[in-house]
Amino acid sequence: MKKFFLYLILLIVLIQFIRPNKNSSEQVSKNGIQTEVTVPENIQSILDRSCNDCHSNNTNYDWYHEIVPFSWVVASHVKEGKEHINFDEWITYNKDQKEHIIEELEEVIESREMPLVGYLKFHPEAIISDEDNNKLLDWIRTLEE
Ligand code: HEC
Repeated sequence: MKKFFLYLILLIVLIQFIRPNKNSSEQVSKNGIQTEVTVPENIQSILDRSCNDCHSNNTNYDWYHEIVPFSWVVASHVKEGKEHINFDEWITYNKDQKEHIIEELEEVIESREMPLVGYLKFHPEAIISDEDNNKLLDWIRTLEE
């Protein structure tokens, strides 16, 4: 039994070396949504606070994100999130992709699917008030035009 725990601890230490790449870009993106459509300041701050950890080229990491398994969970959220929408790569999408993304945006904000519930437990500041959710929805609808 003692040996088992020893191996377990060794394993936990060893897996710490399997580090996923960080999602951080030094520059302000040239492909960002702001370069194409108007993003009012209050909307930008909602996106920064509640979405951009997983849907941009820059994640704000906390200290515990260095530790396995948290580092893996964050990396997988970021990878998956960016596959659906990356606000920093907006102008690289074609017209159909944009239309599809805008539809999805409307859906997830209307149904309050985003941000992910698990994320909100660790980031209560990312919870979107009803008022902000409506503002975000109004803004998304302006993108449809
Ligand atoms: C903790 C990371 C995280 C945060 C924060 C987050 N998302 Fe996501 N998002 C994901 C992941 C992972 C997926 C893909 C899996 C899924 O649909 O659950 C996703 C999917 C989406 C999709 C596609 C939905 C679909 O039906 O396929 C949209 C649109 C989206 N997110 C918008 C947002 C918006 C807007 C915000 C902020 C209000 C936000 N997300 C915050 C991780 C995140």
